[in-house]
Amino acid sequence: MPTPAICLIVASTRTRRFADIPLTWLREELGARSDLSLDVLDLREHPLPFFDGPVPPSRNQRAYASEAEATVGQALDAADGYIVLTNEYNHGYSAALKNLFDTFFIEFRHKPIGFIGYGNVGGSRAIEQLRLVAAELDMASVRTSAHIFGHQMRRLREDPTAHAEVFAEVKPRLDATMTDLLWWANALASARDADATPTD
Ligand SMILES: Cc1cc2nc3c(=O)[nH]c(=O)nc-3n(C[C@H](O)[C@H](O)[C@H](O)COP(=O)(O)O)c2cc1C
Repeated sequence: MPTPAICLIVASTRTRRFADIPLTWLREELGARSDLSLDVLDLREHPLPFFDGPVPPSRNQRAYASEAEATVGQALDAADGYIVLTNEYNHGYSAALKNLFDTFFIEFRHKPIGFIGYGNVGGSRAIEQLRLVAAELDMASVRTSAHIFGHQMRRLREDPTAHAEVFAEVKPRLDATMTDLLWWANALASARDADATPTD
């Protein structure tokens, strides 16, 4: 079985964002693994127009309305699974992330998704809402998730020398999330291959 292609989606699009701190760590951590190949889809680097399609993407597949949509769609298509680095805004997930999920469908369908969140309570409230969206896209959301909590965010922001220590606290949950994600990525890749008549 080929090594699963995992797409790390970066949700925050802010110019000055906390996301860059865990993103640097995740690139190193996930990039060093031999049991997956990593691609990063940074929504700040790939701004999408607000979804304006005539019908839902589930009924109008890969009908990309712009170069930006086509580029992102191809990156999503190439993945066997996703891990989302998510912020939490007003106890929800970011608008940019919802726009991503609204713009595509078949690219995500029958694939697993895992989450690493940050915020006062580790982005948990955003992640729980994202699981509902993932279900509607016919995805498998993995049970385990990784979190960076408010006190850890403060240390990471204020003290670069503390990065290794804080990320060592987060790593067991990241590893567990990746174990689950890869199990599903392999299982669902086989299932997609075996499905000669997909319902899409
Ligand atoms: C509009 C807005 C709403 C926020 N709401 C929450 C929230 O509900 N829960 C939380 O834990 N943090 C909240 N925060 C604080 C964010 O966790 C913090 O700003 C974090 O740095 C955002 O991630 P980013 O910098 O990568 O965009 C909010 C921040 C903003 C800008």
